[in-house]
Amino acid sequence: MAIEFSSRVGRLPDYPVAGGYSLPDDVAMLASNESPWPPAPQVLEAAAKAAAHANRYPDPSNAALREALSRRYGVPANRIAVGNGSVDLLMAAGEALLEPGAELVYAWPAFSVYPHLPAASGATAIEVPLTADHKHDLDAMAAEITVATRLVIVCNPNNPTSTALPLDEITAFVEKVPPDVCLILDEAYIEFNLLDDPDASVDLLERHPNLVLLRTFSKAYGLAALRVGYALCGTESFVKAVHAVRQPFVVNAVASAAAIEALKHTDAVADRVEKTIVGRVELDEGLRALGIEPAESQANFCWFDLPESADEGEVVAGLSERGVLVRAGRALGREGALRVTYGTSAQNERFLAALGELL
Ligand SMILES: Cc1ncc(COP(=O)(O)O)c(C=O)c1O
Repeated sequence: MAIEFSSRVGRLPDYPVAGGYSLPDDVAMLASNESPWPPAPQVLEAAAKAAAHANRYPDPSNAALREALSRRYGVPANRIAVGNGSVDLLMAAGEALLEPGAELVYAWPAFSVYPHLPAASGATAIEVPLTADHKHDLDAMAAEITVATRLVIVCNPNNPTSTALPLDEITAFVEKVPPDVCLILDEAYIEFNLLDDPDASVDLLERHPNLVLLRTFSKAYGLAALRVGYALCGTESFVKAVHAVRQPFVVNAVASAAAIEALKHTDAVADRVEKTIVGRVELDEGLRALGIEPAESQANFCWFDLPESADEGEVVAGLSERGVLVRAGRALGREGALRVTYGTSAQNERFLAALGELL
């Protein structure tokens, strides 16, 4: 007899993980929207210093990290939640808000973890197709909100399509969402968005207690391996709810020390963002030279349809043979598309040369 698991385990979708973890260092890792540049030396020193006290449990309230985030954003620490990556907060939000009979609304294609929330909770997902230019259709999303809606997620800039909506459109949408419905603005890539000041959305929290801004140290801060995400919230009740459903020690002491130090090096973040935007211009121009029009990226990655004559699987395999890892659209919600993280200039050139050979 085999072990009998709960029915929810059978419902949970597999997260489409990227490969490449055991590949040699010279492979261009353009599949996971990470930073190609390592953390600042002071951040590594802070992590090493914290590791020396690894015999002690971390502070379960993560007070120092939440205080540091509070100073950075001007949001009171009691309205800031931290997590083991922002994915941890997303899943905790699903657990705290959803149950059978409840509905959640999000766009599709969007971040591949969102379908996990209805599967885990038994709630109903309303997936609203993106517009033809790969952006959120906020009017259509607003029209899907009913008395059963508990959670709405807007991914801005959107993964996997790289596109963003300007803050005035986001603001108009926030105003339409009923105050008893939680609205998560997933801003994992907000630092790379040139449409508005990346911190401008923080002001919305004062007027909208139902709003949560979800951010991460994994992208512009270059700390993906340490797993630190945070939620800037309109109300303390969200912080308490996600705290209640999780294990007591969500962010480890090494990760917390590194994140606190990283917040002091805004120059390093600005430098990474600037280099990414140079890469964005170079790589997108290179795609156009190959006859491909990418979506309008406001993120650290691009998204485009391959020419109809090309086979997605063959292109991804051919790139991999040439030492370049990218993500196939099929796993992300759109067959025939590719998602490619902007890397260093050398990696971007390598990708373009390889794609040119394959097409
Ligand atoms: C839109 C979006 N949100 C959240 C995350 C989660 O990031 P992390 O858990 O590393 O903070 C990602 C990661 O790729 C993402 O693309």
